[in-house]
Amino acid sequence: MSSMLLTRQLIYGLQQSSKIAVPGCRYVSQAAAKTAVDFDYDGPLMKTEVPGPRSRELMKQLSEIQNADAVHFFCNYEESRGNYLVDVDGNRMLDLYSQISSIPIGYNHPALVKLLQQPQNLSTFINRPALGILPPENFAKKLEDSLLSVAPKGLNQIITMSCGSCSNENAFKSIFMWYRNKERGNSCVSKEELETCMINQPPGCPDYSILSFMGGFHGRTLGCLAATHSKPVHKLDIPTFDWPIAPFPWLKYPLEDFVKENEQEEARCLEEVEDLIVKYRKKKRIVAGIIVEPIQSEGGDNHASNDFFKKLRNIARKHGCAFLVDEVQTGGGSTGKFWAHEYWDMEDPADIVTFSKKMMTGGFFHKNEFRPDAPYRIFNTWLGEPSKNLMLREVINVIKNEGLVNNAVQAGKVLHKGLLELQARYPHLMSRTRGQGTFCSFDAPNDAIRNKLILQTRNKGAVLGGSGERSIRFRPTLVFKDHHANLFLNIFNDVLADFK
Ligand SMILES: Cc1ncc(COP(=O)(O)O)c(C=O)c1O
Repeated sequence: MSSMLLTRQLIYGLQQSSKIAVPGCRYVSQAAAKTAVDFDYDGPLMKTEVPGPRSRELMKQLSEIQNADAVHFFCNYEESRGNYLVDVDGNRMLDLYSQISSIPIGYNHPALVKLLQQPQNLSTFINRPALGILPPENFAKKLEDSLLSVAPKGLNQIITMSCGSCSNENAFKSIFMWYRNKERGNSCVSKEELETCMINQPPGCPDYSILSFMGGFHGRTLGCLAATHSKPVHKLDIPTFDWPIAPFPWLKYPLEDFVKENEQEEARCLEEVEDLIVKYRKKKRIVAGIIVEPIQSEGGDNHASNDFFKKLRNIARKHGCAFLVDEVQTGGGSTGKFWAHEYWDMEDPADIVTFSKKMMTGGFFHKNEFRPDAPYRIFNTWLGEPSKNLMLREVINVIKNEGLVNNAVQAGKVLHKGLLELQARYPHLMSRTRGQGTFCSFDAPNDAIRNKLILQTRNKGAVLGGSGERSIRFRPTLVFKDHHANLFLNIFNDVLADFK
């Protein structure tokens, strides 16, 4: 379909598909309630196995020029709409993974299509500036309208980046500069520091560290990798820093049955955090900052209580460590709060909050005191992308106007409750069902069964993702509604019932 035609259809809603059983169709979804998302399809439609023949052909072609083993299937983004991802073989799947949790308001949202069509926005999409030196006239205003309109409590400074790793990497640098400036007090940078930094030696390159958690994921660049501990595949063969790694709580479910055990588990981890801070100080590898995800995502959807995070925040404060909350995956509303750390209900929850994915641009919010003290210290050529800020502003409008954060609470309840019911019915296949908003997950008995469940569900028309060793994670868009949850639960019930 030409993009003009797609655009017309999106705007005039001509695309409301009637669910026609196509000859050779292996599976047609059970009837779903009429969609409330007017640009959505009304159910999955499967024509082949996934990956189908066209996807396989394209995989072969791509494999000739790069390792394409991670590719699941090839997509037709023109035809994808709302919660439905269409592949190159014409399969239409309900997408509960949404491009690794990065699509905020569904595929081809009419509000974004309209934005792109407005002539006054054209130059923002065509001309990518080096924002740090040559920003457009409206740059500060656009940041105020977009990112700053959802700034976490107490963080009024913003810097944009291009991806999650890049955001954490630069947040680490901001922490180290802040820490060193605190130590320097009023004295100037010495000649020795200027000379030694050029040969990777202290005092110019101080032996500071960032404390992170086992199971955490903060990206794949070199600095971030030192704080990433989710899977060996990310880390193997890469030199790294000697930075402290604390255990992250491993909670037992259902939470109400294991209150005491879980409290003890969290206390054990917090004690270890303090011990490590002291130990690393003695080793002369001062912990300048702590990085933590509100829900460890890639590492297996590991949650901890609000109390755990409050205490952790207080430990950081007590030891003079910056507190960096990585909301790259949790940010943007799917947990039922715009920022997952809002659940902690703290006056001063973070010094720095990093984001990317659903926020469309990477970057970080920070307190005034973390402002770089000179130009070019936190810098790269693009520093993000103004067209993404423009799109984000529209995304935030849609989120606010349509109450999509509350929708995540509501749809999340349906999904969570449904998963608990399935878990009760199929305890040999599901355990530890957990979640906040639609940010849900459960554990399969092992990696092999988890992967098989994902593949079989996909062939029945719903896309899921894995996390950690044996979890399945749910990361739908914010326009995922109750009826999508019910539709998915029906499909998944069939998969579990037939599972061999
Ligand atoms: C919590 C978290 N931090 C950082 C990253 C890295 O982001 P990116 O892949 O955009 O570099 C991810 C990516 O999944 C993430 O989930």
